[in-house]
Amino acid sequence: MNRSAAAALVLGLMLPLSAPRAQGDAAAGRRLAVQHCARCHVVGDHNPYGGIGSTPSFQLLARRADYLERFQTFFERRPHPVYVRVPDTPRLTDLPSPVAEFTVTPRNIEDLIAFVETLKPK
Ligand code: HEC
Repeated sequence: MNRSAAAALVLGLMLPLSAPRAQGDAAAGRRLAVQHCARCHVVGDHNPYGGIGSTPSFQLLARRADYLERFQTFFERRPHPVYVRVPDTPRLTDLPSPVAEFTVTPRNIEDLIAFVETLKPK
């Protein structure tokens, strides 16, 4: 099984898109985003002038109708596979990760999404 199929399987087991979602913890999600995502993304009011210019801010992503799907599958979307680890799936590369690795769990994805929901326009 290739990495993509394996990750899709793990995702399918972890986060059925149709099932009701467990409620994440927005404060925990914010801490994760500050630690693991703010290097490239603007993350709410944490780093309004930070991030990398070509990388969409979390508040911009939160405005998209399909933000839920994007966040549920972000680890499969480039450039994330380079540093995001999905348990029980092969690494994309043996090269060292350029940033602190982030290991996907159902819990931390829910927490991140709960935080992203706080960034949606009122
Ligand atoms: C090394 C830089 C980097 C880090 C760290 C990073 N991202 Fe990203 N992210 C990007 C870039 C660049 C894009 C835009 C990719 C594109 O549009 O092709 C992106 C896009 C996204 C998207 C939209 C995906 C899509 O296909 O529309 C989501 C959701 C996302 N990131 C979530 C996260 C989360 C959650 C974290 C932290 C756990 C994170 N990112 C950490 C660089 C990064």
